[in-house]
Amino acid sequence: MTKVLVATDKPFAKVAVAGIRKVVEAAGFELALLEKYTEVSQFLAAVADADALIVRSDLVTAEVLDAAKQLKIVVRAGAGFDNIDLEAATKHGVVVMNTPGQNSNAVAELAFEMMLYQARGGFAGKSGFELRGKTLGLHAFGYVGKCMAAIAKGFGMQLFAYDPFLSAEDIAKEGVTPVASAEELYEKCQYVSLHMPANAKTKLSINHALLSRMPKGATLVNTARAEVIHEEDLLRVFEERPDFVYLSDVAPICKADIEAKYPGRFLFTAKKMGAQTEEANTNAGIAAAEQIRDFIVKGDKRFQVNK
Ligand code: 3PG
Repeated sequence: MTKVLVATDKPFAKVAVAGIRKVVEAAGFELALLEKYTEVSQFLAAVADADALIVRSDLVTAEVLDAAKQLKIVVRAGAGFDNIDLEAATKHGVVVMNTPGQNSNAVAELAFEMMLYQARGGFAGKSGFELRGKTLGLHAFGYVGKCMAAIAKGFGMQLFAYDPFLSAEDIAKEGVTPVASAEELYEKCQYVSLHMPANAKTKLSINHALLSRMPKGATLVNTARAEVIHEEDLLRVFEERPDFVYLSDVAPICKADIEAKYPGRFLFTAKKMGAQTEEANTNAGIAAAEQIRDFIVKGDKRFQVNK
């Protein structure tokens, strides 16, 4: 019987697991669950006889793929697939997919929640400021960027976006002002929210040259990946600009340094939780299960990322 393993260090909400189970069992497959595992060896043992694998940010390394002798498909229930060794998967003949757009509203809501909490001084009772009229720059304008734009419009923010893969027309038709370069985005915007994946081009790309261009009241919002930030430069900007604030769902390595030196100018979630809602878990988990079913039953390779 086809075995589908859900291996999640950070488990899905119960309702999402029930939804995944329903799709898997209706297809005549068997579901195995490995949640909150603490050792890689547990993952290696669980994946040994799996035909299909659903993960979140769990690392699917060459070692995992070597151990997964029956594996045909891995679906990353989420957007970013930087946790999967695509080269090793391709070498093993394993199809890799993601579930684009399924958790993006949750991520956008979290970015806004952090912005609101910061603007009102952590709800501690002091006078804060409003988001209305402020400039918000969306650095990359995919599913999450578009959800951010929809929310920001309700707040009356002025919206700008830069995405190297989209034309000015593509951005403008969403009611957002396109800018020609990342430099221009940072020059114009008090808030910049990051929505790019972590890859060879984007890693370390958010640097001093960009951040130092931001106007007074500069706030960087990062619900994307820690790796896109040049941390040495980030610390330099913190030091040079007393107005600079960093709100992040993906804690930097230098987190303790920032917490010690710059009180009131940062917000770090306890653990990456942008996509941690029942709705996002259910959407992404069920999409992953359906993609596996359609691949195994019909050979459907839509959403494959290691073509
Ligand atoms: C994604 O890439 O979809 C998000 O970063 C969510 O990641 P998570 O499933 O590990 O919370």
